[in-house]
Amino acid sequence: MDTAGEYFDDGSSFLPIDPLSINPDSLADFALFERNDTDTEGKYRFRCLLKDTTSIPRLRLLELLRAWDVVYIHRTQRQNYNEYVKNNLEFILKHEEIDDKKKSAALTRLSTDVVKESFQINFASGRECRNMVENIQHLITRAIDYISSIASLGGIAELVGHDYETHTHSIKVGWLMATFINFNQDLFPISSKSAVKEFMIQAAVAGFLHDIGKVKIPKNVINKPGQLNNLEYVIIQSHTAYSTSLLFETKLPRSFMQMILYHHENEDGSGYPKGLCRDQIPVLAKVCHIIDVFDALTSRRPYKPAKSPFEALKIMAGDNPYLETLQKFEEEARKNQRAPVTAIVRDDYEAKLRRLREREILEEEAQKRVEARMRLRDQGMSHCFNKELLKRFILTINSSDNFDLTGLL
Ligand SMILES: [Fe+2]
Repeated sequence: MDTAGEYFDDGSSFLPIDPLSINPDSLADFALFERNDTDTEGKYRFRCLLKDTTSIPRLRLLELLRAWDVVYIHRTQRQNYNEYVKNNLEFILKHEEIDDKKKSAALTRLSTDVVKESFQINFASGRECRNMVENIQHLITRAIDYISSIASLGGIAELVGHDYETHTHSIKVGWLMATFINFNQDLFPISSKSAVKEFMIQAAVAGFLHDIGKVKIPKNVINKPGQLNNLEYVIIQSHTAYSTSLLFETKLPRSFMQMILYHHENEDGSGYPKGLCRDQIPVLAKVCHIIDVFDALTSRRPYKPAKSPFEALKIMAGDNPYLETLQKFEEEARKNQRAPVTAIVRDDYEAKLRRLREREILEEEAQKRVEARMRLRDQGMSHCFNKELLKRFILTINSSDNFDLTGLL
């Protein structure tokens, strides 16, 4: 789309971008604008600075890009810009003058798009599944040096405390998997530098896709604004098996498929899908479980505020004084045990009303038990995790200044 040289706009048609994200060696097929003060009607004047980056010599362009603090693109050219960022991702992530917040924002945007697309493909087609995994691999390969570095933890810290949302959750799990592996290479069967990189890429891909099975869970369960009741809890547990089966025809290595299948297993055997414990759980799955819960606790839900990283890790590392009661609740939830509701045998209005009320009471009761279970769980979760791995996770994220975990170690 061709743009005009000047616009008067309230600002909603333009998007601010960092001029440093423009690679002077790569053609940008979108126009750059500057924003001037508002006129009497409160509208800004947007003046075109460059129609595209081929219109001036490279050195002059470099000079200008450094001189501008912020430039704007027209909303209609957003797609061009997104495509440009995708193609120049390595340039942006390696740019020493672009701060980590902006790098993470660009990467988050691209990653969210790619994960959203993945959740919408036709899973019946093996080819589409393989293409989807290759797309994610392609993106992560270009970003792996950044994703697995301390710098990216700053980006993760920026995302902490937001609403829980499956796509961003998946991205954070993928990033943190790669960072954890980078900082704890001695735990994994990898030797050469290139093998480490490949391992981190696969781990991040698996992290991006670990919850993909949620596409098979009814929307009203996934998007329920309150806590899940026991039946819904059982339904949602099937997502680990769905994730594995949807990715079955892809080339994701077996160890990462296991990571996905077992990322809800608890150290004491109280998790799902198989109730595995200790050494039966693969290390990658244990790490993914820690990261998964850390992100869940530090995200905001409609029914509870986000915990700070410090609070979340304290809960995760803490011994639960009510463990026995909690385990009973967990067991009940897993088996979806509910008090039986007798069938209505007579077509009697009064009796029907009474039965309905009884059912409501039972459901209220069940809901109270779910809430009690969640409250009890927050008293301590150390039984869910491997202590050594949890400690290593805390040390990993503590290496970034963006997480204040003083007093936890
Ligand atoms: Fe999950």
